[in-house]
Amino acid sequence: MKMRILVTGGTGFIGSHTVVELLCAGHEAEVLDNLSNSSEEALRRAALLAGRDADGIPFHRADIRDRAVLEQIFSHQRFDAVIHFAGLKAVGESTEKPWEYYDNNITGTLTLLDVMRRHGCKNIIFSSSATVYGDPAEVPITENCPKGSCTNPYGWTKSMLEQILTDMQKADPEWNVVLLRYFNPIGAHPSGRIGENPNGIPNNLMPYITQVAIGKRPELGVFGNDYDTPDGTGVRDYIHVVDLAKGHVSALEALRNGCGLAVYNLGTGRGYSVLEVVHAFEKASGIKVPYAIKPRRSGDIACCYSDPSKAERELGWKAQYGLEEMCRDSWNWQRNNPEGYGEL
Ligand code: NAD
Ligand code: UD1
Repeated sequence: MKMRILVTGGTGFIGSHTVVELLCAGHEAEVLDNLSNSSEEALRRAALLAGRDADGIPFHRADIRDRAVLEQIFSHQRFDAVIHFAGLKAVGESTEKPWEYYDNNITGTLTLLDVMRRHGCKNIIFSSSATVYGDPAEVPITENCPKGSCTNPYGWTKSMLEQILTDMQKADPEWNVVLLRYFNPIGAHPSGRIGENPNGIPNNLMPYITQVAIGKRPELGVFGNDYDTPDGTGVRDYIHVVDLAKGHVSALEALRNGCGLAVYNLGTGRGYSVLEVVHAFEKASGIKVPYAIKPRRSGDIACCYSDPSKAERELGWKAQYGLEEMCRDSWNWQRNNPEGYGEL
């Protein structure tokens, strides 16, 4: 059954891919974003990929902290659910600007939730992160693993917002809340039309690799090769962004079925080391990626990968793409859009 969804942060990396999958699955989407870390061009391209006109997806350039605008949006349109991506996500920056992160992510979400409930929209999918597990006691990580201590304000915003949403759902069972804990999203739409558009020097592994491959940066720094992992470099559960986007479409079913509070890992269940990713990328692109071993990055853990079987059991969702396709599509996006969507 068709649902009408408000997508906050819908011009961003994961949001733009999710909008495509929502429309392709027959849902309707409206997007709200303040464009603090994205470009409206992503939405135009997403619309075209979904067979619409370039301006075929309603867009509100607005901040989730702006109660008046949210009131207006919810007064004019009834939404079956909100998929809430909007937030700041740079780990390093969050340690320098904690107030800005707590204000943007927490005040913003509290404002959004209040306006939603005032308008009787009590269905939400929230973008959480594997970071809430902290340094896991064991891998693979199931949803029952206790949440851990975060090493930065960004991580704490995710952990705290999970708690806020959990408490609100408990107090008012009319709410349906799906917390999706993403592992490491990479890749891009296979068309090469939308992808990740990092601002400045990339913090994350894959955008750094693609920028080295295209000649923007001389070499990759590998942060530590003395971890307790097979080759000494950090192991993560990389997941193709299109698989992740489809996970949100599956999660809508849970909302519709009145799931109450539900928590799912979205990962592949398979961990790869930094050097394995470098080599898979070289194979997929045919380009050598020079790298140098650097000291460990503070706050990093050795190994993190999911047990994604709960999402398969309950949502019927399972990642389809492997590392080869993730590398191929990241490279395809970078090669076709060396400047991303242009300056932000
Ligand atoms: P992104 O930065 O590409 O997208 C986030 C979007 O939110 C951006 O378009 C930005 O302009 C918008 N935004 C930020 N603050 C806003 C505000 N106050 N009002 C309105 N819009 C605002 O990031 P992404 O990688 O697509 O991540 C989406 C969500 O998933 C984020 O909440 C992020 O924390 C979470 N997440 C991402 C990853 C990852 O590796 N990319 C991993 C785990 C969780
Ligand atoms: C990081 C964040 C996490 C966030 C996620 C997605 C930290 C501690 N964690 O996860 O909170 O949810 O991004 O935005 O920052 N690496 C290199 N060289 C690089 C970049 C990364 O060797 O230039 C290594 C890292 O040490 C790690 C792996 O590659 O072992 C993946 O790193 P990254 O892509 O930044 O993701 P996470 O650290 O897992």
